Amino acid sequence: MTEQNRYVLGESAGEHSRLRDQSVVFDPLTRQLHNEAGITAGMSVLDIGTGAGDVAVIAADLVGPDGHVLAVDRDRIALDGARNRLRHRPEIEFAEADLGSLALGRQFDAIVGRAVLMHLRSPVEVLERLAQHLRPGGLLVMHELDLSQDWASVETPLLDRVRQLVLQAFETFGIHSRLGRDLFAAFRAAGLPDPHLTLSAPVGGGAEAPSFGWVNALNALLPYLEEQGIVNADELGVDSLTQRLTDELDAEDATLLGPVMYGAYCRLG
Ligand SMILES: C[S@@+](CC[C@H](N)C(=O)[O-])C[C@H]1O[C@@H](n2cnc3c(N)ncnc32)[C@H](O)[C@@H]1O
Repeated sequence: MTEQNRYVLGESAGEHSRLRDQSVVFDPLTRQLHNEAGITAGMSVLDIGTGAGDVAVIAADLVGPDGHVLAVDRDRIALDGARNRLRHRPEIEFAEADLGSLALGRQFDAIVGRAVLMHLRSPVEVLERLAQHLRPGGLLVMHELDLSQDWASVETPLLDRVRQLVLQAFETFGIHSRLGRDLFAAFRAAGLPDPHLTLSAPVGGGAEAPSFGWVNALNALLPYLEEQGIVNADELGVDSLTQRLTDELDAEDATLLGPVMYGAYCRLG
């Protein structure tokens, strides 16, 4: 497997289910971004790194029955799961492809992607390759995370521990944990027009604190963290972690942010 191919969150039915859980939080934000960027009826759209297919569904809803979405991923298990779950959506087609060597031999009206560039060794190179898959005037819409900001209005011990583990896993594995805020520079480095930027994030306090999102991310990283000898999952008490985190933040009247999402979109000249 090439470096470009490595994906720390794993390839399994568990990762499929984790992505589905995560999409409940992110989908409204992505839908808003696609709307604003101008994904509209009749378009042909490429969704890169589709995972469980949730971004493809958003695009398919917007392009309607006269449009078409090709959803690609390098993970066969994810593709099989998505294909099966979305078999009632014939306007979405799934195909295996590695973004490190993408050459589909066709062009699209729009290309969309969420939380994918951050996992790639060379996001700029992939953006350059994506531009070759866009027709003149085509739309590029990327939605990426930034984990570097304060996660809550009050620092609490458990949240600090979760944050430190998630960031450590990302850093050790070479994931771009601040790619959201670097999207503008990445578009420029790839020779693309300056993108329009958007910013949004899940946020809440008390019972609405998005604790689950962070625990969900940590859960996916646990096998890697354990393998590296950084943490023992039993010690962490994963099963009760979301509740303990919520309770701890609640006791401090804290506001909790989920991952901040940067949107970047531009039209090719
Ligand atoms: C965090 S998931 C995001 C999935 C989906 N875009 C979403 O937001 O729900 C990242 C996805 O990118 C895929 N991926 C990572 N590296 C890839 C590569 N080099 N080529 C194609 N897909 C890749 C992974 O297999 C995974 O499905």
